[in-house]
Amino acid sequence: MFFNFLLCVALSMLEVESMAIEGSVLTRYDPCGLGVLQFDKVTAAEWRGVVYFELYPHLTEVEIDIQFERQVELYGSSQNSTMSVRDDWHRFILRPKGALPKQYFFLLRLADNSTQVPTVANFKLNNVMLCNDAIKAAQTIDSLNVTTNPKEVYKQVCGRRALEHAELTSVRTQALAGDWPWHVALLKKNPNSDVTRYECGGSIISSTAVLTAGHCVSRGDILIEARLVVIVAGVNNHTDYNQIGRQALVARDIVLHPGYTDPLATSDLAIIKVHKFKYTAFVQPVCLWGPVYSKEDLYGKQATVVGFGYTETNQPSDVLRSAYTMIQNDTTCLSYSPKVYKNLLNEFSFCAGYGPNSGINPRNGDSGGGLVLGVLQSDHKISYILRGVLSKCGVSVGHTECDPQHYVVYTDVAPHYTWLYHHSGLKYRSNIL
Ligand SMILES: *[C@@H]1O[C@H](CO)[C@@H](O)[C@H](O)[C@H]1NC(C)=O
Ligand SMILES: *[C@@H]1O[C@H](CO)[C@@H](O)[C@H](O)[C@H]1NC(C)=O
Ligand SMILES: *[C@@H]1O[C@H](CO)[C@@H](O)[C@H](O)[C@H]1NC(C)=O
Ligand SMILES: *[C@@H]1O[C@H](CO)[C@@H](O)[C@H](O)[C@H]1NC(C)=O
Ligand SMILES: *[C@@H]1O[C@H](CO)[C@@H](O)[C@H](O)[C@H]1NC(C)=O
Repeated sequence: MFFNFLLCVALSMLEVESMAIEGSVLTRYDPCGLGVLQFDKVTAAEWRGVVYFELYPHLTEVEIDIQFERQVELYGSSQNSTMSVRDDWHRFILRPKGALPKQYFFLLRLADNSTQVPTVANFKLNNVMLCNDAIKAAQTIDSLNVTTNPKEVYKQVCGRRALEHAELTSVRTQALAGDWPWHVALLKKNPNSDVTRYECGGSIISSTAVLTAGHCVSRGDILIEARLVVIVAGVNNHTDYNQIGRQALVARDIVLHPGYTDPLATSDLAIIKVHKFKYTAFVQPVCLWGPVYSKEDLYGKQATVVGFGYTETNQPSDVLRSAYTMIQNDTTCLSYSPKVYKNLLNEFSFCAGYGPNSGINPRNGDSGGGLVLGVLQSDHKISYILRGVLSKCGVSVGHTECDPQHYVVYTDVAPHYTWLYHHSGLKYRSNIL
């Protein structure tokens, strides 16, 4: 009781302004952008492979057939398995014994101990080819139909990266341009001097609309003038004018959510209209969650947040960074600080973070930036779907920056799908494959 009381008086919420990612660097390799197979770098030369069998709940027996471009040593699987080694340590056939686990792990290193990525040449699951050169070659920006200019209503692909960005991503460290092609920087112009200042993050949801937080574009009831807002897309460093993917557009209109009120996270949303993004390998839309959703299904799910902002040492950073976070049930955050979270959490918001002791929370979020979930699609690949917009973070008394020990509150975009659809010029009902 006493402990709770202490937290109550020692914590308040702040609209999040900037982002710091704590914890060690994680480099992840997803061959062909698949959901089922990933490699995380664990030391300079060692990688941990993960096969997510939970994505295929009806499988009972599995044969994993994986071939690497280079000679590899594969060892230490998480479950007793038979392994057959072929093609001079390039190809491995693994059969886990017994009941299939949700996730199956193994370790590997390149035989020459080099620090390069263990590039996958072929990957089959139960004899179904999921990744090879032909599949990689077909995964171009053109094949995703994002660069075409539709006259008719059609199904557009969203939440995907171009292949050159799809396979290798650094998380909890600097992102490359194109890694998160929907994330933009929102800059504000000084009305008298044309000097711009970084203000917030945002997500491209259509070629003419960016979703950000309501508090990024208003103070009290006053909405900022659209002509003073500049959206910079396609970069991993918003101060670098020379990046090849850069597109900078001045806002034409700003639509604040009618339900937005400053102290709450309920409808902390605004749509910034622009004319208009050209979809490229660096600039692409994210998918929107909805109209069908359940908040309970989110609990315990890992999600990704991306932002420009601050580094671990609280230095301003121009560079895009990303981190994983964990969506928590309301009870977890409420019991951490009833006073603070009870006003913020309801059916239109959720909280996320790894908790007080993890050391890997996004510290200061990047207001207006998105929380995305990777969702497996029928082509076995992941599409990133926007579910939250960063709204509030916890601040300890006497401080002005977000405290990494506290959970962060996000506006849930799914209940607002109809409003978003209406105002963003989406031409298709569902933008998921
Ligand atoms: C692996 O096999 C050994 C001996 O056959 C057994 O003792 C052990 O429990 C098994 N481990 C798993 C994870 O199934
Ligand atoms: C690679 O590193 C492992 C573990 O450190 C070592 O056992 C092995 O001999 C090394 N191989 C080469 C080719 O250096
Ligand atoms: C892109 O459009 C073409 C025809 O316009 C279609 O055949 C193809 O399936 C579309 N690709 C995707 C990924 O939807
Ligand atoms: C970002 O770009 C600016 C302008 O080119 C440059 O001065 C700065 O060093 C860059 N930041 C990083 C971290 O690369
Ligand atoms: C909320 O999540 C925590 C931690 O994951 C778990 O222990 C608890 O049972 C959950 N509570 C509810 C009501 O779901």
